[in-house]
Amino acid sequence: MEPEVTTQSQPSAQGTPETSSSTERDHARLPGTETVGPGLLGPTGRAMPDFPDPAPLPSHGPARIIAMCNQKGGVGKTTTTINLGAALAEVGRRVLLVDFDPQGALSVGLGVRANELDVTIYNLLVERGHDVRDVIQTTATHNLDVIPANIDLSAAEVQLVGEVAREQILARVLRPVMDDYDVILIDCQPSLGLLTVNALTAAHGVIIPLECEFFAMRGVALLVETIDKITDRLNPRLQVDGILATMYDSRTLHSKEVVRSVVDHFGDQVFHTVISRTVKFPDATLAAEPITTYASTHGAAASYRQLARELIARGGAA
Ligand SMILES: Nc1ncnc2c1ncn2[C@@H]1O[C@H](COP(=O)(O)OP(=O)(O)OP(=O)(O)O)[C@@H](O)[C@H]1O
Ligand SMILES: [Mg+2]
Repeated sequence: MEPEVTTQSQPSAQGTPETSSSTERDHARLPGTETVGPGLLGPTGRAMPDFPDPAPLPSHGPARIIAMCNQKGGVGKTTTTINLGAALAEVGRRVLLVDFDPQGALSVGLGVRANELDVTIYNLLVERGHDVRDVIQTTATHNLDVIPANIDLSAAEVQLVGEVAREQILARVLRPVMDDYDVILIDCQPSLGLLTVNALTAAHGVIIPLECEFFAMRGVALLVETIDKITDRLNPRLQVDGILATMYDSRTLHSKEVVRSVVDHFGDQVFHTVISRTVKFPDATLAAEPITTYASTHGAAASYRQLARELIARGGAA
């Protein structure tokens, strides 16, 4: 059994629209956040800044593309793509999610029956003549659309090897809808193969989720090296938007130690927001809903709302 998160106070206030005056309360409620004197010390051991409620956008697009990337499996890439996307959509951003994993977990998590579809991201990548808008599906969440994937995508890696400009195919696929969205989030598969290289070549930024476990940092050096190579050779605009600690358990010293060591290593690249371990996430996946609607008043939803505000405050999204 996974431990359940204990939120600290005012559960009934969590679902109410957030105002700037409620921001401090939100921080205090998030696991691992402590009040220290007049200020707040976040779970990453740094003073917790105030992330303002994002201003409404006067117009939409062009999109900023963010790849959710870590070749380690099960670190929260798909969960973060869905729930950060939903939290951004909640504050009026138009969001497109791209399922870029043949397992199709993102599509399933949003209630899309990708196995029954004739055209998915696979067809956009390997066949000419498709309109990306025909493949995009709306979801039950307003402002949140998805390009689904299914197991067909597993063939793409091999099929694309012989293509001209094989690293730039996803960027070309997304180009026609750049002005329709404010943010495009790409859910990468746990590998550093050609599909992930395509995601990093299309992206402006990359978010690296890290599970708060021993060996969290294992493989991260290789990922950073890959990002550096892509910045050098294929996509000079690419930057690391942030490193996100996931599956944090505020009751264990171990989680705290992992987060501290990640901060020691990566400094301000680490998001102040951390995501706690809670069964609400697998439950929400089963219900095929983002946490922001499945458990809107739970601390888990508050964390992803805070991550959305932090990302916008950092300039990682409009
Ligand atoms: N904060 C969390 N607390 C508890 N469970 C979580 C949390 N985040 C994700 N999970 C669960 O952990 C599992 C792995 O998460 P997820 O699918 O998001 O990881 P991933 O990095 O996309 O995995 P993969 O590399 O296989 O694509 C899922 O069952 C998910 O529901
Ligand atoms: Mg995944």
